[in-house]
Amino acid sequence: MPFLRRFEARFNAVFTLVAGCTAAWGQTSSPLLGGVWSGNVTPTSVTVAARLNAAGQRVRLAVSPSEQLTEARYSAEAVTAAAAGNAVLLDVTGLTPGTQYHYGLEVGGVLRTEEAARGKFRTFPAGAGSFKLALLGDGDYRDPDQRSYDEVRAEEPMLLLFNGDLHYRDTNTTNPDDYRAGYGAVLAHPQQGRLFRSASLAYVWDDHDFAGGNDSNGTALGAAAARTAYADSVPHYPLRVGDGTIGQALTVGRVRIIITDTRSAAVPSTDPETPAKTRLGAAQKAWFKQELIGAREAGFPLILWMTSDPWIGPAALGDDSWAGYATERTEIADFLKDNRIRNLVIYGGDMHAIAYDDGTHSDYATGGGAPLIVLHAAPLTRDPNSKGGPYAAGPFLGRQQYGILEVTDNGGSTIQCEFSGKRVGEGAKVVLRFTASASAVTRRGLQPLVVGAERALVNVSSRGRIDTPTETVIVGFVVGGRTPRDILMRAVGPSLAAFGVTDALPQPRLALYRGSTLLATNENWGLQDAALLTAVFDRVGAFRLTDPGSRDAAFFLNLVPGAYTLQASSLNGALGSVVVEAYEVP
Ligand SMILES: [Fe+2]
Repeated sequence: MPFLRRFEARFNAVFTLVAGCTAAWGQTSSPLLGGVWSGNVTPTSVTVAARLNAAGQRVRLAVSPSEQLTEARYSAEAVTAAAAGNAVLLDVTGLTPGTQYHYGLEVGGVLRTEEAARGKFRTFPAGAGSFKLALLGDGDYRDPDQRSYDEVRAEEPMLLLFNGDLHYRDTNTTNPDDYRAGYGAVLAHPQQGRLFRSASLAYVWDDHDFAGGNDSNGTALGAAAARTAYADSVPHYPLRVGDGTIGQALTVGRVRIIITDTRSAAVPSTDPETPAKTRLGAAQKAWFKQELIGAREAGFPLILWMTSDPWIGPAALGDDSWAGYATERTEIADFLKDNRIRNLVIYGGDMHAIAYDDGTHSDYATGGGAPLIVLHAAPLTRDPNSKGGPYAAGPFLGRQQYGILEVTDNGGSTIQCEFSGKRVGEGAKVVLRFTASASAVTRRGLQPLVVGAERALVNVSSRGRIDTPTETVIVGFVVGGRTPRDILMRAVGPSLAAFGVTDALPQPRLALYRGSTLLATNENWGLQDAALLTAVFDRVGAFRLTDPGSRDAAFFLNLVPGAYTLQASSLNGALGSVVVEAYEVP
């Protein structure tokens, strides 16, 4: 592709010019390959990884609350060695919890000033505290559109949870330097590198950034080399399993996050289903179970399990997800049930779409008993695809997608969580709110009242008469603003009689459309959670529907900003008057 080559040559020329400018500031061209990134953050410590261009270089890390790195704390000095690919991991301890820090790399006694040598992170709160986690996956630095990385950075999350496919190099050699070069390519990318220098990271690989390429497993030729490079070039939490997998666990506030490696100890998905067939490997699975018990005993309100594969899907031999390891999936679900671990939420990867399940489709325990909330939010830049399911919401296929998990923890027995699956330029495609405590995770149907919150839409109401069986009463409304809103919608017929309406429509059917897409229908409000709906009626100031058998229609949904149409029709062909309404639920 001659055009592309010409473009690259130009790009390099520009890059050289920039490097020349840096030299003019008094420092030689950067000794870094790629750039720095941070991880292994706790309330009081950090680890920064860096890779240099030569052996025998003395390196230290400076960490300070000030961007100028005044009064910095320093790591011990490390010396680069060719045997470790000239990569170093630098630890700084003794930090203050819940504090924004800046860091910089010192090489040969000189504090580097180039962007690739500087970053920031936030120490975690010690105990209860509120924070924002970014849920990330499936990015490729070779894709032209990288807006998602900028947008995630603008969200200012405290921690980046990267759930696989950091890149798509599909390396499968026995040379660890080839894997280190993959990390370097990500960190050298202007937008990607900037994101990883803006917050700390917890990262697990999936097939394309592990070894062996698409759908790879522990039999990959390059597995050992990939592990070596991960261990010396990625800032990571302690790898305690001891079998070479990169499973790790961390505590963020009062959330325990367990990260499993579903690639490097997995047997092929085409192996027959037996109790021995494993995606985690025996050692990592034993460690995972111990971690779960430990989290339960410690009383964490929420356990987040990061697994780089879809959990939900009908059992299928050869499927490269938990559906292809159905016996082990049931073993894990039964373990959760038998040990009364009821506050686990799964953050799944590998599916390039936004979706969640609320426990409706995710229960694989024998006889039921482990309904789990499952979250998916990807891809950052790669091509969309759907895997597994069904899901309670989604899958929403698109590029430039990521998730935000916002945790609000005021120190009580419960914490409030809000998951948003977002697409650049469109905001949240789905929002799921749930309350977590040591004994349960429950979906929140109704938000606490927020006084003084910006209102997107207060109320629309229209009374109409259906005079022929095919006629409809149509009401349009717009959800404004930039964030999704809970909207109550009703088509009231029979209950109008209480207000003296003598020609009330006996059986209205209410349908919600966005454009030509049908989003929801209802014909019988009382078949839903009538107590919850009644609370919503009260909240918005709408009159109550007192009889759950009244055949009025009502539902409430979380709607993204946009234009919607409500259509009321007659279900049984009878004619009459109907009131069609929409209310924002504050
Ligand atoms: Fe992927």
